[in-house]
Amino acid sequence: MTRAPEYVSYAQMDKLHELQKPRSEARGELNFILLSHVKELLFRAIADDLDHARAALDEDDAAGACLALSRATRTQRVLVACWEAMNGMSADEFAEFRHVLNDASGVQSFAYRALEFLLGNRPRNQVEAAHDNGHPLLRRELAKPSLYDAVLAYLARQGYPVPTACLDRAPARQHEPNEGVEEVWLEIYRDPAKHHTAHRLAEALLEVAYQFSHWRATHLLVVERMLGGKNGTGGTDGAPWLRAINEHRFFPELWTFRTRL
Ligand code: HEM
Repeated sequence: MTRAPEYVSYAQMDKLHELQKPRSEARGELNFILLSHVKELLFRAIADDLDHARAALDEDDAAGACLALSRATRTQRVLVACWEAMNGMSADEFAEFRHVLNDASGVQSFAYRALEFLLGNRPRNQVEAAHDNGHPLLRRELAKPSLYDAVLAYLARQGYPVPTACLDRAPARQHEPNEGVEEVWLEIYRDPAKHHTAHRLAEALLEVAYQFSHWRATHLLVVERMLGGKNGTGGTDGAPWLRAINEHRFFPELWTFRTRL
């Protein structure tokens, strides 16, 4: 038997190419599955870099955290650009195979949910669902403080007056917007030269949050383009549900302090 070339065996490319199995004859379905796979893998790549950023902060290595955050951001931009390829499909082409999805929906993506948990969006219903019957990855993530928790703990160790209520919390419970934290960011941005390292970290974090919101906003546009006012396959009312999600911001005080700057 001939051996597969190293490129194929090293990363199991043959297995990778066996994973896309359209259920219909519709022209757009293969591309839809391929793009879904690409996005899932990019979720994981981003989570890996964010996890590194969190570990670096735990070691008080802000420069290492900034490097990992900027790497995550590069991948996030690729993730946003993927919507361009999805938009090559017209609404009628999507309608041709949408029925084969049954109730499959991105809302069931554990890799996406893990990314949200890692960043710090841990709403009670999602946490309960993860504990009840979620993927093990989600429970592992919920046992750890989020990236934003790690940022606040790092700032506290550097002497910034982060309120203790934001530091002593069970990891699975999410951080709620806090005026004291807003004050800390305000102090940093009022004198960025004095607070150079914290300012660099804040800018890197904001870019991650910005790109995440950018992905959500573009997803909403794609949904309006493909579905108009139809319900989602995941059981929501589609665009209105996603519009409400679009209001959410990661690292909330990093957005709100600006009003007072
Ligand atoms: C034609 C393309 C797409 C349409 C029409 C669409 C539609 C929707 C709708 C309507 C929802 C709301 C939940 C529900 O299903 O009821 C949703 C959620 C979601 N979709 Fe998509 N989607 C598309 C492509 C994708 C792709 C390629 C991904 C990435 C793999 C994705 C990831 C997600 C995620 C992660 C959520 C949950 C968002 C959250 O919980 O905050 N979607 N999608």
